[in-house]
Amino acid sequence: MTSLKLAVIGGDGIGPEVTEEALKVLEVAAPAELKVEPTRYDLGAERYLATGEVLPDAVLAEIREHDAILLGAVGGKPGDARLPAGILERGLLLKLRFELDHYVNLRPSRIFPGVVSPLAAPGDVDFVVVREGTEGPYTGNGGTLRAGTPHEVATEVSLNTAHGVERVVRDAFARASRRPRRKLTLVHKTNVLVHAGAVWSRLVNAVAAEFPDVTVDYLHVDAATIFLTTDPSRFDVIVTDNLFGDILTDLAAAITGGIGLAASGNINPDRTAPSMFEPVHGSAPDIAGQGIADPTAAILSVSLMLDHLGHSQAAAAVEAAVLADRAELAASGRDVRRSTSEIGDAIAARVAH
Ligand code: NAD
Ligand code: IPM
Ligand code: MN
Repeated sequence: MTSLKLAVIGGDGIGPEVTEEALKVLEVAAPAELKVEPTRYDLGAERYLATGEVLPDAVLAEIREHDAILLGAVGGKPGDARLPAGILERGLLLKLRFELDHYVNLRPSRIFPGVVSPLAAPGDVDFVVVREGTEGPYTGNGGTLRAGTPHEVATEVSLNTAHGVERVVRDAFARASRRPRRKLTLVHKTNVLVHAGAVWSRLVNAVAAEFPDVTVDYLHVDAATIFLTTDPSRFDVIVTDNLFGDILTDLAAAITGGIGLAASGNINPDRTAPSMFEPVHGSAPDIAGQGIADPTAAILSVSLMLDHLGHSQAAAAVEAAVLADRAELAASGRDVRRSTSEIGDAIAARVAH
């Protein structure tokens, strides 16, 4: 018997609702010889408002000792004066990604059979965005001068290191070379962001030499949004920086049937710290507490986690259960609105069989 020590951070809004369903599915999906040992952490808005704590060093040290992390979502209602924007996003979520060196932010996008895309003829969509996770404009490298005056100046500097870019580019090439179409598209804005763009272009070209079987393509990020909407089946692996990847993956979720289905993994490929799995979506304050959030993205994140931990059969079983659940829903022809726990129960029941 081996154990899976799992740090669980439900977080805010719908975060805890979808995370509990994901745990429910994990319980039945885990192989018999794997004992799932979840430890729940009450990090998020409530703890911050009650104590002022966001992610105490001692808690981070404890989390680091786990095999993996499952996270729901963090952040309050935009505009909530008690919770300034960024406190939890930067202090908790990004701090975990940075401290645990989650340099590969993996975000697969597929249109599952039976799931309706808002696009009229999307084609066979199956791509993965490899989003850089520890650099870009996310590092907090910036500041404000003369705040609140008409002469205010604010900067938000994008950090791109050769080391940071090369390692995520190499990971993306390796993923592309394992996929049937073996195609990699760099998405950037090299026509304007010339300094960062030069590093990304140079390193993509350099690493491409190690993967002669992978076809390389390039798109400016603005054009990429066109093709994601008009011809998404052209994409296989997209590698891009932290901010472009954030924006493109919400778009990717929207075209593949909705944000409630989009899963992600914050991967530390070197395994020097636990990787973290979470839905792409946020805390959705507009629907929190109603039991109507779709937990599928969190459940598919568990599939990514099982795969990362080497339990590929269990991972495939979770994905197959989600596919079957969606296919049955489509075949029934009914427009049923299921609750969060009904969806979790239906998927868990399929995994159990
Ligand atoms: P959001 O993803 O929370 O919500 C966008 C829209 O999608 C909303 O209408 C919401 O109801 C809907 N939605 C999201 N998840 C859903 C689900 N599982 N089922 C059904 N509908 C779903 O984005 P937002 O409104 O920009 O952000 C809300 C808060 O979440 C902010 O505080 C933001 O900073 C935070 N946030 C956190 C994360 C994270 O923790 N990973 C990610 C994104 C946003
Ligand atoms: C995401 C979120 C986060 C990001 C925020 C909440 C920091 O939007 O995971 O996509 O920008 O990475
Ligand atoms: Mn996002």
